[in-house]
Amino acid sequence: MIALENVCKAFPLNGGKLEVLRGISAEIPLGGITAIVGRSGCGKTTLLRLLAGLDVPDSGRILLPEACRVATVFQEARLMPWLNCRQNVAFGLGFREKRARARRLDQLIARVGLAGFEKAYPAQLSGGMQQRCALARALAVEPELILLDEPFAALDYFTRRQMQRELRRIQQESGKTLVLVTHNIDEALILGDQVLAMAGGRVARQFDLQDQSWPRDVLAPQLIEIKRQILSEMEGETP
Ligand SMILES: Nc1ncnc2c1ncn2[C@@H]1O[C@H](COP(=O)(O)OP(=O)(O)OP(=O)(O)O)[C@@H](O)[C@H]1O
Ligand SMILES: [Mg+2]
Repeated sequence: MIALENVCKAFPLNGGKLEVLRGISAEIPLGGITAIVGRSGCGKTTLLRLLAGLDVPDSGRILLPEACRVATVFQEARLMPWLNCRQNVAFGLGFREKRARARRLDQLIARVGLAGFEKAYPAQLSGGMQQRCALARALAVEPELILLDEPFAALDYFTRRQMQRELRRIQQESGKTLVLVTHNIDEALILGDQVLAMAGGRVARQFDLQDQSWPRDVLAPQLIEIKRQILSEMEGETP
């Protein structure tokens, strides 16, 4: 279990301070997908950075399992421009025997649908392809916890659906813990074992979707009702 206990974070702004996270408390079960939704600027990336250990809370605690390897797919792909697609993914692989390494690279690249683009440099890939390359690089690390910040925002509808299915499959096969930040409430409902709705610097509501069948149908009455509740939490908040 990953636990967030009353996590607060503020940033300096115009001589004062902007309180972004005002006491985030939540539990993230291991071995599932937790989706975080909230309006732009509500602090989703800030929360992910705290989970990744890239920044520290002003107060409160984040409890991660011991020796928990974390990989992050950021909102922008952050690939190394001087390395091609294959080399970028390889960056996440530790030392391995040459043939095993090549096999693993092929697997990872195929898994995100980039076979044939191994030698392309980031500037030669579309935004969505760069994101998929970043996902393969994150998987290469074999992390226990994968943090994803709007990983599919740049993808067209069909590629997005395909990547959602792929992500779910990766999670089910590996049993890893995924935390997925998304603006897209349908995506959260399609993928999440639980959904955290952020508003007012807190987790306004936590929805358990574990009992919802898979594949998810966002037009199913229960999911429509959950979506209505999420929207009503988010609606009251001024961006
Ligand atoms: N390093 C920083 N210094 C100052 N202010 C920051 C910093 N990082 C974030 N903020 C502020 O904190 C607030 C939350 O930012 P954050 O990036 O977490 O939002 P978000 O929910 O991820 O938004 P989006 O959906 O647009 O990505 C914003 O008002 C932003 O200006
Ligand atoms: Mg963000």
